[in-house]
Amino acid sequence: MRNRLEGVWQFAAVALLLGAVACEGPSDPMVRGAARYDQCAPCHGAKGEGKPALAAPPIGGLPRWYVEAQLDKFRIGARGAHLEDSAGLRMRTMALTLPAEREVQVVAHYVSSLPHAASAPSVSGGDSTRGKAAYAACASCHGVDGAGNPQLNAPPIAGQADWYVATQLANFKRGIRGAKPGDATGATMKAMAVGLDEQQIKDLAAWVASMPRG
Ligand code: HEC
Ligand code: HEC
Repeated sequence: MRNRLEGVWQFAAVALLLGAVACEGPSDPMVRGAARYDQCAPCHGAKGEGKPALAAPPIGGLPRWYVEAQLDKFRIGARGAHLEDSAGLRMRTMALTLPAEREVQVVAHYVSSLPHAASAPSVSGGDSTRGKAAYAACASCHGVDGAGNPQLNAPPIAGQADWYVATQLANFKRGIRGAKPGDATGATMKAMAVGLDEQQIKDLAAWVASMPRG
């Protein structure tokens, strides 16, 4: 009798385990990340090239650690929770639909595998020669070539769309980004942007966007 009961329990345990595996779906992170990315494509584009009309930046090729960190910030409200940040609020709503940290990881993995897409210049009035000179203050973290530095949590910015660079610099400056509790890395960047005026922001955006992404 005891043996038969044990058998039943073992059978039930195996069935539960198989059920759990089935619910998890395919185990290949790239396959799951690609499926999850269907949710992101309407705004960020099928290849992560971005859609300026929706204020959604190019994200293809951003490193996985950075994408994960930003998705986590949106999820906890360290980014995209300021009332004047309508673009960030839209992204925050999206990030909150990711059901678990595991999904953040697989979609970040997939985004980092997409190619970086160059964007056409769209901000007028920026002078990239002046921007290049001003960029000396940025190189210690983002690198002379704008390739970023994971040790300093500084993302690659070379070749990023000028409108997005300008918007983010203005957001950091105004405390729309980088001013929430739980956003120490954003606060680092905010300190850098706070002294920039409008013209310097345009100049820097022109230079950063013109740098080739390695
Ligand atoms: C409804 C449109 C929309 C959808 C859908 C969307 N996003 Fe976004 N996303 C945005 C906008 C707008 C921003 C810019 C936020 C800002 O200006 O701070 C953004 C910003 C981001 C950033 C920050 C990029 C950076 O350089 O810091 C990442 C990463 C990101 N999105 C990933 C995703 C992923 C992954 C998905 C799918 C799970 C997704 N987004 C779905 C609109 C969207
Ligand atoms: C002390 C280090 C440091 C310096 C110097 C610095 N940054 Fe940053 N920057 C960061 C960090 C860290 C982040 C990521 C912030 C976050 O996690 O939200 C960042 C983020 C950014 C972003 C947002 C990128 C994105 O994809 O959303 C832009 C644009 C940027 N920096 C431009 C600049 C420019 C231009 C300068 C020079 C005026 C500069 N940074 C100087 C550390 C730095």
